[in-house]
Amino acid sequence: MLDKITETSEFLKKQIGSFVPQYGIVLGTGLGKLADEIEIDFEFSYSVIPNFVEATVESHKSRLIFGKIAGKNVVCMQGRFHYYEGYSMSQITFPIRVMKLLGIQRLLISNAAGGLNPSFKESDLMIINDHISQFLPGNPLIGPNIMGDRFPDMSEVYDPKMIALAKEIALKNNISSLKEGVYVSVTGPQLETKAEYRMMRLVGADAVGMSTVPEVIVARQLEIPVFGISVITDLCIPETLEKAELNKILANAAKAEPNMTLIFRELIAQGA
Ligand code: HPA
Repeated sequence: MLDKITETSEFLKKQIGSFVPQYGIVLGTGLGKLADEIEIDFEFSYSVIPNFVEATVESHKSRLIFGKIAGKNVVCMQGRFHYYEGYSMSQITFPIRVMKLLGIQRLLISNAAGGLNPSFKESDLMIINDHISQFLPGNPLIGPNIMGDRFPDMSEVYDPKMIALAKEIALKNNISSLKEGVYVSVTGPQLETKAEYRMMRLVGADAVGMSTVPEVIVARQLEIPVFGISVITDLCIPETLEKAELNKILANAAKAEPNMTLIFRELIAQGA
């Protein structure tokens, strides 16, 4: 696998020359607009990148973008890979390993998630301050250890400095919809039952989604500081649960997107 990671990063380095990205960004479901803020230097469809798979979900584009936000070099995945698409844990986290070899020093990651905490409202943003990986049936670090620690520490997965700065940014910009909490990752693709939402709340989760945690585990093994944010696209309160509709989820993601974009842009501008 190290051969493949090296092959992909060498392919990209050949195309981007002296461009070294400082920030890696992963954009979640319905959250691709941050890409419009990038002054693009290079972009690649996933289909031309060796060893990349395709994002098969319609709401995800399949583009790797290199460019600048607030004068800083970034590499951005517009569209991510999910386990429910049939890819392995290694395949969905492969781009994080490639980004590491390209030189990123921070990872900013976003997702659409269901809100389990009863104080959350639709289109709120939740800073991820911790996560639960144990509902996933697999783990990207299982198997031969190819990069980093065999037993990586997870005591502080999400970077406290970036979290503090994001809160300051929200305060300054009157973003009152910014919450904070624990994200639990499941495979999907079906949404959860009421009994499952009740269970997830009981184990301490504030939001649930189908991504992010595998990528973050790999990033932490590689000692990349991570900032993660969930956009609360639907409320998962068992007693008042409404039927989930993808259109509504996407509409709620779109409503929250400008604030999420602002927080990412300012974190980058302020060099957090
Ligand atoms: N559950 C899982 N994933 C999600 C949800 C949800 O309710 N909403 C958006 N992504």
